[in-house]
Amino acid sequence: MSTQVPEQEGEAESSADAETDASVESPQEQRMAKKATDRAYRDAQKKAQEEIAAAEEAVRMKVFRYDPEVEGKQEPRFDEFHVPFEKGMTVLDALMYARDHYDPSLTFRHSCRQAVCGSDAMFVNGQQRLCCKTQMSDLEWPVRVEPLPHQDVVKDLVVDMQHFYDQMHSVEPYFQGENAPDGEEQKQTRENREKIKMSTRCIWCGACMSSCNIAAGDNEYLGPAAINKAYRFYMDEREDEAELEEHRLRILEQEHGVWRCQTQFSCTEVCPKDIPLTEHIQELKREAVKSNLKFW
Ligand code: SF4
Ligand code: FES
Repeated sequence: MSTQVPEQEGEAESSADAETDASVESPQEQRMAKKATDRAYRDAQKKAQEEIAAAEEAVRMKVFRYDPEVEGKQEPRFDEFHVPFEKGMTVLDALMYARDHYDPSLTFRHSCRQAVCGSDAMFVNGQQRLCCKTQMSDLEWPVRVEPLPHQDVVKDLVVDMQHFYDQMHSVEPYFQGENAPDGEEQKQTRENREKIKMSTRCIWCGACMSSCNIAAGDNEYLGPAAINKAYRFYMDEREDEAELEEHRLRILEQEHGVWRCQTQFSCTEVCPKDIPLTEHIQELKREAVKSNLKFW
């Protein structure tokens, strides 16, 4: 399918021309020329989208837009994009096409494109998903793309992840054991590795936190990802000092810790790495109860 969108270079050339002509044109004429160039570019983009929309295999996307810094774009809205469909196309592919061909100001995060970095978690057709892992062919069209709910929007599809990172760091997500023999490899049994295997798969995408009703209503709740991270270290036999285990449990059983979870399973449903988050939280609740049992 041919898509006659003017090249960005073309626009650059036009601006260059305008600069060259500055010596002979008045500022008013330069402004008019720039406006005409911009209008021509926008018209060409619109025409390209219409051509693609008319074609049978075009995906229609409704994409959330919001720019707090540009007056006139401050009202949140949805922009519609028509993207030529290709077999194997992901939501991230479609967003990149829309950005590269129609609107360079469309803003979203991505990096690895293989479900490893966790940066492109968004709310697609009403569910938290990794865009690079989600096939267009698996979704109902038009595909609606929004930023992760319950987080502040920085711009378009980008949300502020600081609170999520703070919660992750609050459970001290690193080894603290002092039993490691100097210069020697710390051994772990196969069984223990199996036990913590799933919990180590977290990629810090924030999808679980965004899906959690409790986290939405309680800003201090540690949230499923942080609790899972604590589980990963609490259950690791290489960090086997009783005092440390106790310390980790105290963090987890605080007022806004594991007891806030109401086993709604929304986090488990959306986790792109299939981590059994709700199960891990329940297991830690049992550990907290056990540690507080007293026998007279
Ligand atoms: S637990 Fe799953 S959903 Fe939550 S941050 Fe980690 S990978 Fe993402
Ligand atoms: S781009 Fe890295 S997880 Fe999707």
